[in-house]
Parts: sequence; C-alpha cells; structure tokens
Amino acid sequence: MTTAFIGQPVSRVDGRQKVTGRATYAAEFDVPSLAHGAIARSTVANGRIASIDSAAAKRAPGVLAVLTYRNAPRLAYRAHKGVVDPEVGERLHVLQDDRVSHQGQPVALVIADTLEQANYAATLVRVTYAPETATIEIARAEPVRPTREQPDQPERRPSEVRRGDPEGAFAGAEVKIDATYVIPRENHNPIEMHATTAAWEGDRLTLWDKTQWVHNVADEIAAVFGIPAQNIRVVSPFVGGAFGSGLRTWPHVTLAALGARVARRPVKVMLSRREMYYGVGYRPHTVQRVALGASRVGRLTAIVHDGYQETSTYEEFSEALLNASRFLHSCPNVYTRHRIARLNVHTPTYMRAPGEVSGIFALESAMDELAVALNIDPVELRLRNEPEQDEFKKLPFSSRSTRECYRAAAERFGWSRRNPEPRSMRDGRWLIGLGMASATYPMNYAPASAMARLLPDGTAEVTSASSDMGPGTWTSMTQVAAETLGLPIERVKFSLGDTRLPRAPVHGGSMTMASVGSAVQAACRKAREDALARGGANDLTEAMRRLGQPVEASADVKPGDAGQRFSMHAFGAVFVEVAVDPDLGETRVRRIVGAYGAGRIVNPKTTRSQCIGGMIGGIGMALMEHSVVDARNGRVPNANLAEYAVPVHADAPPAMDVIFVEEDDPHVNPLGVKGVGEIAMVGVAPAIANAVFHATGKRIRELPITPDKLI
Ligand code: MOS
Repeated sequence: MTTAFIGQPVSRVDGRQKVTGRATYAAEFDVPSLAHGAIARSTVANGRIASIDSAAAKRAPGVLAVLTYRNAPRLAYRAHKGVVDPEVGERLHVLQDDRVSHQGQPVALVIADTLEQANYAATLVRVTYAPETATIEIARAEPVRPTREQPDQPERRPSEVRRGDPEGAFAGAEVKIDATYVIPRENHNPIEMHATTAAWEGDRLTLWDKTQWVHNVADEIAAVFGIPAQNIRVVSPFVGGAFGSGLRTWPHVTLAALGARVARRPVKVMLSRREMYYGVGYRPHTVQRVALGASRVGRLTAIVHDGYQETSTYEEFSEALLNASRFLHSCPNVYTRHRIARLNVHTPTYMRAPGEVSGIFALESAMDELAVALNIDPVELRLRNEPEQDEFKKLPFSSRSTRECYRAAAERFGWSRRNPEPRSMRDGRWLIGLGMASATYPMNYAPASAMARLLPDGTAEVTSASSDMGPGTWTSMTQVAAETLGLPIERVKFSLGDTRLPRAPVHGGSMTMASVGSAVQAACRKAREDALARGGANDLTEAMRRLGQPVEASADVKPGDAGQRFSMHAFGAVFVEVAVDPDLGETRVRRIVGAYGAGRIVNPKTTRSQCIGGMIGGIGMALMEHSVVDARNGRVPNANLAEYAVPVHADAPPAMDVIFVEEDDPHVNPLGVKGVGEIAMVGVAPAIANAVFHATGKRIRELPITPDKLI
C-alpha cells in the first residue's frame, strides 16, 4: 500500500461526478418555491435615465416584482475591497440612482415565477435616457497616471520605474527596434455562465454562486446589504471555468439577493452568454510601446516599455502589465511607465495571467524583432541576456530555470532544424514558421487555513474554503492530505467551496496549490501527530481505532520573510510551429512545446492539463479572440460564441508537449510549489506571432493575427 501521492499523476477524484452530471454547478441548485430574475440593461454607455416605465412588465404573467432605481430598497454599500478589487474608485451601485456608466448596466430586475416569464417581462420595461457623450475608443482617451500606486503589491505595479539612463542608452544603441503592440479587449468566456441563487431565512442569506472566492462574496454582499458576513453562507463546490471572471463579486450577485428579499422567495439569476460581456469583467485593451537597444553582439543596453490600458470611469483597474520587463532579461538601462485610459465602459478585471500575458506579448515580440535585426538566433539572444539576479529588486531569484527550459524545450522541439531565413521553410504549399518566447509569472502565496478531522474508522475529512475552477483542486488537495496523513487516497475526503469551511485565499493568481496546499499539509501533519501521540500507536489507523473518537486539527499558514530575501517567480519557454496558407492567410498551429520551472508539481497529470489549457488559451489570444466594441455606444456586437471565436478541438495542435524542469525550491512556501495556472498561457501568443513572422516575413503587432492581416 503506497501513500506517496505528491508528484503522482492521480486521476481526478471528482471525475466520475463530473462526467455523470452529478457535480452541481451554480445554476443547478434548485430550492423550493424558486423564482427567476431577469435583468434589463442600459442601451447607452453614458448618461442618465430620463424615464422608466415598468407598468407593462408588472402586468405580465407570472411577474412578482419589477425593481428599478425608483423602488429598489436603498442598500448600505459599505466600504469593502477584496484584494482583487481596484484600489481606487467605487464599485457600481446597482439600482440606486439614475446614473448610467456603461452599456449594459442593469437598470431593472424582473422577478417572475418562471425564467421565460421573467425574460419576457424584462423586454417590456420602457426606459428613455438623457445620454451624454461617451468615450469608448482608447485612441480618443488621454492615458493618465493611476491616482496612486497599488499598495497591495507595490513592487509589482509601480506606475513608473527607471534604472540607468534608458533614453540615452537607446539613442546611442548600435542596434535598435521601436514598435507598438496592441491587444484588443478579450472576454473570459468560461463555458459555465455566471449564476447566483439567493435565499433569505430571516436575516440570514444563502448564496449558491459561481465564484473563485466564497468568503469574498460573503464579505462583499455583507458590505452591500449592511449585514454581518457571518449571516451569509456562500456555496460553490464546482466552477465550470472562470479564468478570472469569478474573482470579484459582480452586480448580478447583489441583484439576486435583492430580488429574493423583495419577492420573499429564493431567486435565481443566471446570465446569458450575451450578458457575460456586460458585467463580469474582461481583459483590458492595451497599447504598448517597446523600444530595445542592443550592442552588435546582442547585449541589451536599453529597454523602454510604455503601456496603457482601458479602465472604467468609476474604478481604476490596473494590472502588472510591465512587471516582467524589469527583470526577465538583463539590462542596465530600463524605463517602464504604466498608464490607464478612463472610458465609458464597465470595469475590466484580471483574466488568465493578467498583466504578464499582455506585457510579455509585447516584450517577447520585440525581442524577436531584435534577434532578426541582430541576425542572432532568438534563443541565443535570450541566453546572452540571462540575468544573474533580479535587477529590479536587486535580489537573487529563489530559483530560476530559464536556461534549462530553453535547452529542454528547444531539444524536444527540434529548434536546431530551423532555417532562420523567413519564408524559407515549406510543407507543400503551406509556409512553415518556428518561433519561441520566454515566459514568467510570479509565485504568489497568501494566508490560508485548513482543517483535518480523523475518524475512528481510519478515514479523514479535510476542508478548506477554496475553489476549483478546473485545475483539479479537489484532487491535488486530496493527494497532499493523504500523503501527509499516510492514508490511502480513497480514505481521505477533501471538501471546498463553502464559507462554513476554513478561510482560503482567492482561487487565482496561481496561488491555490502553494497556499491552500501548504495549509492542508500543516493541518494534516498536526492531526496525525496528535492522533499518534494520544492513541499511543505508530500506525494512524490503529491509533484512531484505539481512540474511538475523532481528532481534529486546524492550521493557518502565511508567507514569512522570503519575499524580502528572494525574487520568486516561475519561468518557462514556449516553442511553436505554425503553418500559414500563403493564399488564404489562415494560420494553423501545428505543435507547441512548453518547458516550465515551476517548483514542485503535485500532480503531473492535472498540471499537464492546465498547461495544455493555457496553450490553447494562447492560441485563442494570438489568432482569434477579440471583443469588438462599437465606438458609438460601447456595445459588443460579437457578444456570443458564434462570432467571438475561441479555439475548438480542431484548432488545438495534435502535439502539445509539456516539460517540467525539476526544481527544488525551499524558499517559496512549505510545499515548494510555484503554481502553473497562469504561466501556462504566458509566452504562447508571442511565440505564435514570432512563428508567423518566420513563416511569412510579416510582423503582426496587433492581435489577433487574423487572415486579413496576412494577405
Ligand atoms: Mo486568475 S486571472 O487570478 O483567475
């Protein structure tokens, strides 16, 4: 009997529930006497509601209530910010006044007996607006400096950083490139739509919600309603993808709770696919200038990276767009500047590998352009600029396996067979291109708690209020618990996704394994030691049998001071082969090889799946994804999965190789985990763009790389 589970490719413990449809997602919790909510949304991007007439909607069959700003209860909207909320600004106050701040803002909520009745009645709400001029296009807004630095992570998001003399070094550089890179707005588009069911019992509220952070939903809704967070239970055992859209608590959650209070019945609000583009965030449109200077032998002498992104008028969202440019490559003269453009849009949010994935598209595209200008192999160029330490923080890396990632991935990929000449490689009539890029993502580790309960029958229940939006948290935590307890995996039951369980940090930022995993390990270690001592046995099962009653232990973990002594990041390298149809401009990704130094890999099977998911996400970003925004009114004409293209199976290359470079990093956290959820997507889009250049000789600096840009 083995109990060594960490590092084993264990199949998902919840796999059977998922494939048999017994895993219950947010919209599937049906409670007795459930009513349904439908949201009427503004059709202008800026202005005021001039008139609102809900009489016809109220008279429609099955309608229980119609809420607008005129009759909706006033909500407390006490101050509360989760770590994922923008530091500056105030969340949208829903149905509280006549102000319209973005296209698609909720202006009415209809509650009815059935979903169909609610949806129909919502179309009967008549609203007229006093519109004001709306600025929608990023090109029409003056980018400004954020009001203040982001205090939660001051080292990640300073708005302006300078070392050395970047302008002087760039002016005097022997070889230089200077270009602007554009990424359009992209939406998360998880397959599961956002949904909330709210049920009040007196002053207690239960929310079944799609979220990446149950405790933050409770805290946020408590602040909105002015009630204690302890009165709110949030349940979210399964999440069908999120990629960041479930980090914050969006207005529809408030609406579900408000509707349930007014209708005095439980209310379910589920967003349609179209509504997913008007209120659960998106990756912001970014514009980035990168200027690189180098010596003829390929040593970087200057990096200037100047980027800005869209945000709303009511909140300042900003992400770590330029972070990696400060330490990924060695360079004595570096300038980065981050700005925001306030538009009449709803607030963007974090989307898979936020900041890094966008910034590194620009940086690693520029590095490829520099390699071409220098006539140096792109891998060699990176090796010549490999830093000995984090030159921004002036700290050693806790571990950094970039050299090994380049070597391992290049070898697996067959990089040496690449003819550097653009348009030189063909397969029949297809132009073949090989490209590569570097990747990095910070190691995040946040305070987390867990509980372990050992039972006399030799089984264990382990809990933490974490989330599993797909990576396999149910499984990986079960592995950590079983190995730490020394029990067979089928005797350990792990539970997550409920505010009744010990508090976990947000399921984002690639930090769940590091944080919750370390807490689970600590709680299980304590429970085991306690049970063995009290049971007077060397074997846990025997000790528990002798004790005849449960043994419980809780543990809290939090980061120590390693962050002051080390720069801690995962690093990787991505190699891509594309084929481009020279007549039709169609790009097919044929192969991807990614190598990652991401610390300990708890489950190579689910982690490989994560990486493949990130690669496919990167294909979408590079070749397809674009939330088109109508500059006149902020509407998204392609707010559906027919016209917002994402990769389907036929777009996924037959070969996606994932290599984990072994890293034993004792500094990052007790489990030695760096996280892979986000680095898996970083580097993919620039590697594809670089491969497209190699195939065609055309440098595409504005994503997505659609056929019209190549013919
Ligand atoms: Mo991730 S964007 O932190 O869900």
